[in-house]
Amino acid sequence: MVNNKLFRITKPDGSFFYNHKIRWERGKLLHPMDWLRKTKWVIRQEIIWDRMIAGNIRGWRFWQVEERIYWLYKPKGKKLIGEELKPKHALLTSIWRFPPEQKNPHPAPFPLALPIRAIYSIMDEKKGVVLDPYCGSGTTLVAAKILGHGFIGIEISKEYVKFAEDRLENCKKELRFAEEEMTKHIVMKTFKERKEKGEFTGRYAPKEKRTKIFDEQKELFLSV
Ligand SMILES: C[S@@+](CC[C@H](N)C(=O)[O-])C[C@H]1O[C@@H](n2cnc3c(N)ncnc32)[C@H](O)[C@@H]1O
Repeated sequence: MVNNKLFRITKPDGSFFYNHKIRWERGKLLHPMDWLRKTKWVIRQEIIWDRMIAGNIRGWRFWQVEERIYWLYKPKGKKLIGEELKPKHALLTSIWRFPPEQKNPHPAPFPLALPIRAIYSIMDEKKGVVLDPYCGSGTTLVAAKILGHGFIGIEISKEYVKFAEDRLENCKKELRFAEEEMTKHIVMKTFKERKEKGEFTGRYAPKEKRTKIFDEQKELFLSV
């Protein structure tokens, strides 16, 4: 299985972002978790990629405009969950809203912001090597290059290899899309500062700070 082979060649403490959709085969739902749980990877998070639009020609179910991205982790030693993300990355939510890429001739390219978000969040200022085993038009490699990492791409189509190579050569042209994503990684207050100031929300808020609406909603919920 490719996922286990990738596990073998990834350094301990390394991460792998795996993109897949929920699919149906003869009416039966096939969920990526079904096979990911059978691999050696620790599943750190399921992220929803909200594409906002997707082809829809049948009405068997509601319009599926989302894909899934799994943050998979290879533990170092016995610590299964690894290090925390820096707050400026962790304060982005687990729903990633990126519309599909329009200007790329590849049939299924990532928007550049997507691999920028994944790589920048995990690596922050550290440098490493990024591998994309199905690199297509090279979007992940462009992201890695812009962020200053080494990169390896594998692609079966010579045409896409050539396209990816040209793109890498001219990646300065795409810098502004990467920068636009990176400006979203900001933090006004760290988790520690929030905790010290008692700035929790919802059920974690100190009782005197909880809003009336929240308490009313809770009562309603408990009475159902
Ligand atoms: C979904 S696309 C990846 C697109 C890429 N993320 C991008 O932004 O352009 C998957 C790619 O995997 C390639 N592919 C399929 N089977 C492969 C194989 N066995 N080895 C290497 N590449 C393969 C396809 O040609 C296709 O370009």
